[in-house]
Amino acid sequence: MFEDLGEFLGGTIIFLYGLTILNFFVKWVNKKFRAQIKKNDLVFKGFSALMKVVVKYHKVFGVMTIGALLLHFLVQFFTYGFSLTGAMAASVLIFQVALGGYGFYRKKRGGLWLKLHRGIAVLLMIAIYLHVE
Ligand code: HEM
Ligand code: HEM
Repeated sequence: MFEDLGEFLGGTIIFLYGLTILNFFVKWVNKKFRAQIKKNDLVFKGFSALMKVVVKYHKVFGVMTIGALLLHFLVQFFTYGFSLTGAMAASVLIFQVALGGYGFYRKKRGGLWLKLHRGIAVLLMIAIYLHVE
């Protein structure tokens, strides 16, 4: 039972992580394909709604990953014990969320912090892959 719960919580972290990186992809699609998207009313409405949720709740999804991480850690630690790859992925995730918070409070878009924040999003994907692989 705890095995399933631990796996589910790990999957929840990955799902929330996926929602946070959509922030980048919806903006990219919006920039590159704006003209095509606008051609179809339904596609335009659907895409705009998706983009609004993804951008507006980016911080919320990001902070929620920490909650899921904490639960995953508790379940896995008391079921299997310590995991080095898990601790590595968790360190990157915690740093990423702290950096996002820093960027948010600085209120300045762009700059070194955002470059780092984007780069660490990729590093986090690699760290998660190494952990679940
Ligand atoms: C970004 C952070 C993390 C993510 C996204 C994550 C995700 C996952 C996922 C999806 C699984 C299920 C994999 C599978 O069944 O094949 C898993 C398993 C596991 N995780 Fe994590 N995890 C993270 C951090 C941690 C931490 C901090 C620990 C420390 C205790 C940990 C310990 C484990 C253990 C022991 C397993 C079970 C491995 C096994 O089935 O043999 N994880 N994790
Ligand atoms: C799993 C955690 C997170 C990941 C993987 C992540 C990833 C990203 C990525 C890839 C971007 C670039 C989007 C673009 O190019 O415009 C971005 C932007 C941004 N992130 Fe995060 N982020 C995370 C958590 C957070 C948190 C917790 C906060 C704030 C509390 C935050 C605040 C921001 C801000 C302010 C931007 C600038 C663009 C915008 O406002 O949408 N991030 N994030």
